[in-house]
Amino acid sequence: MTKKEIFDNYDQFVFPTYTRLPVIFVKGKGSILTDVDGKKYLDFFPGWGISNVGHCHPKVMAAVRDQVGKLIHIPNNFFGANQARLAKEIVRQSFDGKVFFCNSGAEANEAAIKFSRLFGAAFPAPEGARFEIITTLNSFHGRTMGAISATGQTKHQKGFSPLVPGFVHVPFNDIEALRAAITPRTVAIMFEPVQGEGGVNVASQEFMQAARKLCDERKLLLILDEVQTGMGRTGEMFAYKHYGIQPDVMTLAKALGGGLPIGAMLACRKVSHLLQPGMHGTTFGGNPLVAKAALGTFEAIHKDKMLKNCRLMGAYMLERFRQMQQRFDFIREVRGLGLMIGVELSIEGKGIFDECFANGLIINCTQGNVLRIMPALNVKRKEIDKAMGILEAAFTHAVKA
Ligand SMILES: Cc1ncc(COP(=O)(O)O)c(C=O)c1O
Repeated sequence: MTKKEIFDNYDQFVFPTYTRLPVIFVKGKGSILTDVDGKKYLDFFPGWGISNVGHCHPKVMAAVRDQVGKLIHIPNNFFGANQARLAKEIVRQSFDGKVFFCNSGAEANEAAIKFSRLFGAAFPAPEGARFEIITTLNSFHGRTMGAISATGQTKHQKGFSPLVPGFVHVPFNDIEALRAAITPRTVAIMFEPVQGEGGVNVASQEFMQAARKLCDERKLLLILDEVQTGMGRTGEMFAYKHYGIQPDVMTLAKALGGGLPIGAMLACRKVSHLLQPGMHGTTFGGNPLVAKAALGTFEAIHKDKMLKNCRLMGAYMLERFRQMQQRFDFIREVRGLGLMIGVELSIEGKGIFDECFANGLIINCTQGNVLRIMPALNVKRKEIDKAMGILEAAFTHAVKA
């Protein structure tokens, strides 16, 4: 197929739900993507947070190749060694409990929402079952009806009314608003440790501690959406570890499968009995292939010491951006955790994004004016230096423009 034929086929046969850039990638290795014409790109937003271990990591490829030759899928009415090992590994890396496997972040959050309904029925208020979940403004939890209802941004909800009832949104990092929003109907508090799509907003220590304390005092579930922050992205395997607390429920997806679609919800042991046979399920959930890829991903993160590299390279990039902030007035704020970095501008970010892309650097721009930069955890310093050079040139052009 020629490039034109591919674009034409999309026009004719694929829903235009995504804004696509006119490029066709055919190869990926680490932080480098190669397009059909042989042009190389530095990918500093690999797979929208999927490819934390870089494109085609040898450990993930070996795991997938090995499994593909043996057995790709068996349904969940049978046992499977990979799923068993993966559930144990997730627990070993986080906290004791039980895992439900699914295929995406939205589904992991959907599972958590359903789980909190069970919790609210099992531990009701004197007034009756509790069902309300407090989430935060600017959050993003996915695109299913439950997940868009949880999401605190109307732009993702427009056109899909009526939403699922039972969600209350409070400003992120606002402890007083959080406390005030709790009623006898409240069953859970749910948020991302670092809001990704919402603009790379890092939860303050105070907010996280207050949320944990309120959940303990009022018998609520603390649900952390680690779909984007999980799997080493912030320099810890899971972002909650920066805060010295533990959630009751954690949702994962994106980077868990190293590029293959898998999601997971982990609920702590003291409530895990609530999800019983037949209550929830999905046919693909945690099949042998995706579970093996996830095991390969954990191995890659450990063997290549990616958490350490993430912390070092994250600090280096933040410092470089802060230096740039001295020279470019329109850089309003530089923030982030590990290699999840946001550069908030006082101008539109699209021009910067376009210029970076034209010069072979892939980043993301969210909320119109926040550059979101999330290179692979094994990114090399010289790749960062090259990316910073491209960004600096784009900033310089923006000044002239
Ligand atoms: C924090 C968070 N939660 C949930 C989701 C939804 O994940 P998925 O697109 O796999 O459904 C995303 C996706 O960007 C996300 O960033």
